[in-house]
Amino acid sequence: MNTATHQDAAPPADFDISHKTREGNPGLRGNYSRMAADYTVAQSVSDYTAEQQARWLRLVERQMALIPSRACKEFLDAINGLTALDMRRGIPNFADVNVALKAATNWTLVGVPGLLPDDVFFTHLANRRFPVTVWLREESEFDYIVEPDLFHDFFGHVPMLFTPIYADHLQAYGEGALKAKRLGGLDWLARLYWYTIEFGLIRESGAVKAYGAGILSSPKELIYALESSAPQHVPFDVMHSMRTPVLIDDVQSIYFILESFQQLRDDTAPDFTPHYEILKQES
Ligand code: PHE
Ligand code: FE
Repeated sequence: MNTATHQDAAPPADFDISHKTREGNPGLRGNYSRMAADYTVAQSVSDYTAEQQARWLRLVERQMALIPSRACKEFLDAINGLTALDMRRGIPNFADVNVALKAATNWTLVGVPGLLPDDVFFTHLANRRFPVTVWLREESEFDYIVEPDLFHDFFGHVPMLFTPIYADHLQAYGEGALKAKRLGGLDWLARLYWYTIEFGLIRESGAVKAYGAGILSSPKELIYALESSAPQHVPFDVMHSMRTPVLIDDVQSIYFILESFQQLRDDTAPDFTPHYEILKQES
């Protein structure tokens, strides 16, 4: 599977997206012609076709069948407990979801045309705004797709934003990424994002569950990450994750396991300046 499916609006710096930015490639997927200065676009739910709505439902049904035994409790509680996250009602209207999301964690979803430049993406996160791609994959991309689309962004990422400790972490990550950029540490910090927000696993009453959006939105990787004996499962460790290159076009060969979201918060709280100095010396 082409795990570019899992690329986020800010893929790891290992992966050069300069060719995909609007400046670098006018053929960039998504319509960047009507966006605001912060790259946001209005989402117009009535513009989705009946075909797109039907495809959305099939994507949702396929994934909903797989997650009850595999997604972490926080994810399941959000999608099972909130009408705003009942994705079987059709493609979600961001404005409706935002009423519930604001009340839960003070985050806001913003529509975007697709991949964003790093600093734009991180600035949104630092301000508790989560960029969600407005377009849905084509039928030919039902199983895999080369860029993050509405399904990956919404199904994979949005439910977790309803958990306060996770939501606070993601804002801190946005701030930390802007800082890493200034310090020349972004290549490493982007790996941490990849192995947590996109491909993270967490132990829950002895069982390992998924909380990473790239896993939760992929039928293949959800089963592979949790049930195959092929990939390594290792305890989450900040420096270990930053020293591990990512695989962008295949399932991962290593997954990092958290014991709790508090651990993610605590382990990423220290000043990373010395981390980046060590990593620079190693490279
Ligand atoms: N604490 C990190 C720093 O000072 C920033 C950070 C926060 C990174 C949260 C990741 C997640 O650089
Ligand atoms: Fe993502």
